[in-house]
Amino acid sequence: MFTLIVAMDEERNIGKNGWMPWHLPEDLKQFKARTLNHAIVMGKTTFVAIGKPLPKRRNLVVTHDLSIEEKYPGVEGVFDFQSFLKQNMDSPEEIFICGGSRIYAQALPYCMKLVISLVEGVFEADTKFPTFDESAFEVESIEKHDGFSVKILRRKVNDA
Ligand SMILES: NC(=O)c1ccc[n+]([C@@H]2O[C@H](COP(=O)([O-])OP(=O)(O)OC[C@H]3O[C@@H](n4cnc5c(N)ncnc54)[C@H](OP(=O)(O)O)[C@@H]3O)[C@@H](O)[C@H]2O)c1
Repeated sequence: MFTLIVAMDEERNIGKNGWMPWHLPEDLKQFKARTLNHAIVMGKTTFVAIGKPLPKRRNLVVTHDLSIEEKYPGVEGVFDFQSFLKQNMDSPEEIFICGGSRIYAQALPYCMKLVISLVEGVFEADTKFPTFDESAFEVESIEKHDGFSVKILRRKVNDA
């Protein structure tokens, strides 16, 4: 199953100049705790900004660059994202969709769970989280932290 994980502000901003618009070490800590020992999927732009694979996780990078694995040892390239999403949506393994914007937009329909850090305030930014139908999800929990809240949404199951 796919779990999307994102930090966004009150206007859905997520990025500025290739990085996050805020500095929230506590949010990075919870990202690490949730994703450790799991597979993480990110777009090439987000990966290049980080610059190296994140330790103790399977790092999957979505790109058209067929030489990504040679350039960045420890990374697995995903070259056909749609097929990857279709093939893994029913996997028992929890696979984290970690952005950026273009990756979130394509993966959202396949995600069962969204872990959203809602950052207090509105920041200067150049990248937004895509709009989506929040009524397809129910709120599982909201956890308050200093400067942000972690909201967990789970996709409603259609019993019909
Ligand atoms: N706040 C947060 O939680 C959060 C999380 C992650 C990222 N971000 C921010 O988001 C911004 C980056 O987002 P972005 O949308 O510009 O870039 P991105 O989604 O990280 O990466 C886009 C790249 O991914 C590859 N790609 C996307 N779809 C593909 C497909 N279907 N097939 C093959 N390759 C595909 C392409 O790489 P190639 O050009 O190599 O083919 C494309 O240029 C940054 O500012 C970052 O800090 C924020």
